[in-house]
Amino acid sequence: MTADLFESIGSAGPAEEAMTDGARLLRGFARAIDGELIAAIDAIVAQSPFRRMFTPGGHQMSVAMTNSGSLGWVSDRSGYRYDAIDPTTGKPWPAMPSIFRKLAGEAAAQAGFAGFRPEACLINRYEPGTKLSLHQDRDEKNYDQPIVSVSLGLPAIFLWGGLKRADKTVRYRLGHGDVVVWGGPSRLVYHGVAPLADGEHARLGRRRINLTFRRAR
Ligand code: SIN
Ligand code: FE2
Repeated sequence: MTADLFESIGSAGPAEEAMTDGARLLRGFARAIDGELIAAIDAIVAQSPFRRMFTPGGHQMSVAMTNSGSLGWVSDRSGYRYDAIDPTTGKPWPAMPSIFRKLAGEAAAQAGFAGFRPEACLINRYEPGTKLSLHQDRDEKNYDQPIVSVSLGLPAIFLWGGLKRADKTVRYRLGHGDVVVWGGPSRLVYHGVAPLADGEHARLGRRRINLTFRRAR
């Protein structure tokens, strides 16, 4: 299915769930444009391939990553940062497709954050058994813009905690096309992804892809 760029993506009225103050889960918000998103991801990955980055502590992450946009999130022995250049190719990250920008802006607006214009889209690839430990998204210059996170492929268990690492977490199942938006009082909530259960997704096979949109500067 093709979504017109001038048509509203979430117009079908997705089911919404409030998570914490400032955080919402928009069920199925991206589903109508999944084919376009997957084609755009394939084109990005053909230029800037998925790679498993190293943490500053020297551990290789299980989740493979790439980016699109004028800035990309990078981790290596020297730390976490945003960089305009892909260290693997030595070239700028692939441009952010207009369908990505439209989706991120509309999802943010739907969750109460109008005017969101991300310049970074981190693309995470999960295979069965891979996970993302509990963390805060705090490498951005300021926290007044929300985070928009889009799930595609195999379902994952998203761990949603509080402002302290030790806070108890709530588990949300994120399926193909689900979008989570968090900002305001929830901007620095600890979150992570439990080890991905094996399965076979009709569009993406044994994989989950997550797009995380951020305003970095
Ligand atoms: C992230 O926190 O960077 C990714 C979250 C997800 O994969 O759902
Ligand atoms: Fe995150």
